[in-house]
Amino acid sequence: MNYKNIVILTGAGISQESGIETFRASNGLWENHNVEDVATPEGFVRNPDLVYGFYNKRRRQLLSKKIQPNPAHKALVELENACSGEFSLVTQNVDDLHERSGSKNVFHMHGELLSALCSNTNKRFAWKNDLTADSENPSTGEKRCLRPDIVWFGEQPYYLDEIYQALASCSLFIAIGTSGQVYPAASFVQEVQMNQARTIEVNLEETEISPYFQEHYYGPASVEVPKLVRALLG
Ligand code: APR
Repeated sequence: MNYKNIVILTGAGISQESGIETFRASNGLWENHNVEDVATPEGFVRNPDLVYGFYNKRRRQLLSKKIQPNPAHKALVELENACSGEFSLVTQNVDDLHERSGSKNVFHMHGELLSALCSNTNKRFAWKNDLTADSENPSTGEKRCLRPDIVWFGEQPYYLDEIYQALASCSLFIAIGTSGQVYPAASFVQEVQMNQARTIEVNLEETEISPYFQEHYYGPASVEVPKLVRALLG
């Protein structure tokens, strides 16, 4: 493989076949919940228990035995292992299925379900249990300061410096299972066009950002990503 710098962007679609709901499908997370209530800092101030409960439920689901990485996650590990240059896996997902598969250079730009964030110190802590207002900050013992480590609407995504640095010299960009409706991730494909990068979209269907990609693999990620990786590895 002749690519010096590969950047992969994943969204909820890559984990859908592992049993995690996407956001914008009918019956998706955002159809069943009011986004302003559960995914904004204002919603958290208004009703913290509702927000803790929403993410506790999702964390428990993620840790249940039935949620496992699928062939799409695994194929990306193969691609990373075969890449002799730089490889960055930028994910909008808050699950840990990429890490569980063995991916190494993963950037969770929208945070992580298995992490808690201290609002006072901005320190992040690995977290597997339910989170409540009474949960203690493991370093200070303080209560009423931990929140889900999720980047809510209106907040700054994580790792933007690292991500834009990778995009600036990217020669192969692949977006998998994202609707392209949330920025800045939706604009990454336009960033890499400036370097004449090869651009590939994998999705069940056309998205708002499909026109920016040179190549498309339409179908379930568990089938299309392994197919694409086989094609890239020759
Ligand atoms: N294989 C491939 N693509 C799929 C599959 C599948 N099995 N299932 C669904 N998809 C596609 C859908 O067609 C859709 O385009 O995945 C995309 C999922 O889109 P969204 O639900 O909008 O998820 P995402 O793009 O990751 O959302 C971005 O929005 O609410 C925020 O912070 C949240 O990170 C999330 C961000």
